Formats: sequence, structure tokens, C-alpha cells
Amino acid sequence: MTKLQLTLAIIKPHAVKNPVALSYIRNVIKNNFVVIKTKRIILDTEAAGNFYKEHVEKFFFNRLVTFMASGSIDLHIMGHVHAVELWRRMLGPTKVYKAQFQEPHCLRGMFGISDTRNVAHGSDSQSSAEREIKFFFPEFSFYNWHTNDEVRYR
Ligand code: PPS
Repeated sequence: MTKLQLTLAIIKPHAVKNPVALSYIRNVIKNNFVVIKTKRIILDTEAAGNFYKEHVEKFFFNRLVTFMASGSIDLHIMGHVHAVELWRRMLGPTKVYKAQFQEPHCLRGMFGISDTRNVAHGSDSQSSAEREIKFFFPEFSFYNWHTNDEVRYR
């Protein structure tokens, strides 16, 4: 049996609020990944700061945390044999000016507004994906997730 790699996508507040962006992103996800679990939450600034703690020294930390706590975010645990790389590739470059000029058809090229409002987050490695999934879904089991009734197969 092919082993699916898991990754975490976080659709950022400005994209959740934009119906055109949101339905496009959901279609991209549905057509390319096995969606294992989904939930919509609102982070408080403390939780957002915790999630992004590796960036605490960066000049943009407060801006990023405040933004991520400014509205609903959609979380998706997604599976694919190359889930981490595929989702990052679909997102495109973190910096939106690069996305718009170099890869205008990636999600950030299409719907990104700034380096903060850059549509969505994607785990950058398998170990980050596991840590991030545990952060938002502490009850999630990496061993028997495939028995979960909520899994939506394409
Ligand atoms: S870095 O500097 O290379 O470590 O940053 P990077 O990995 O590219 O991005 C990490 C997250 O920080 C956000 N980011 C910013 N927010 C606000 N302002 C600026 N200038 C900025 N630069 C990067 C970026 O959106 C990343 O968020 P996630 O949620 O991980 O995509």
C-alpha cells in the first residue's frame, strides 16, 4: 500500500474572508489531496505567538501574530505521497512580490496581498507537519487516522 505523507495547510484570515479565493483554494485541495481532517478556528494572540515562536526574533513577528489572530483560519490535514512538497509548490514563494512575478498561477501569486497576507501556510518538512498537526489537533493519531470516518476520499 502507498504510504501517504501528511501536511498541514492553514488558510489565513484574509483568504477565509474572500469567497472567490476560498472556493478556489478548497477545490485545489480537494482535487489534489486526501483531506483527512478540517476545522475552522480563531486563534488568540497567545496561541498564534506559540505557533510562530521560531520567528519571535523577527521584525515581523508581532504583525504576523496579530494578523493570524484577526479572524477565522481554516486548518486542513492533507495526505499525498509528496504532501509537504506538493502543497508548498502550489502555494509558491512566501514573498508575494516573487510569487506574482515569478509564478503568477500559484495560490500566492493569484490571491496573495503581502508577505503577511500570503494566503496560506504549509508545513516545511515532515517533522514540522507532525509538530504542527499535533499543535492544532492534539487528539489526532498518526497511527490510525485512516480509520477515521471523517476522511473524505476523492
Ligand atoms: S523567514 O524570514 O525566511 O524565516 O520567513 P519565512 O519562512 O519566509 O516566513 C515565515 C512566516 O513569516 C511570514 N512572513 C512575514 N510576515 C509579515 N511580514 C513579513 N515581512 C514577513 N515575511 C515572512 C510568512 O508569511 C510566513 O508565515 P507562514 O504562515 O509560515 O506562511
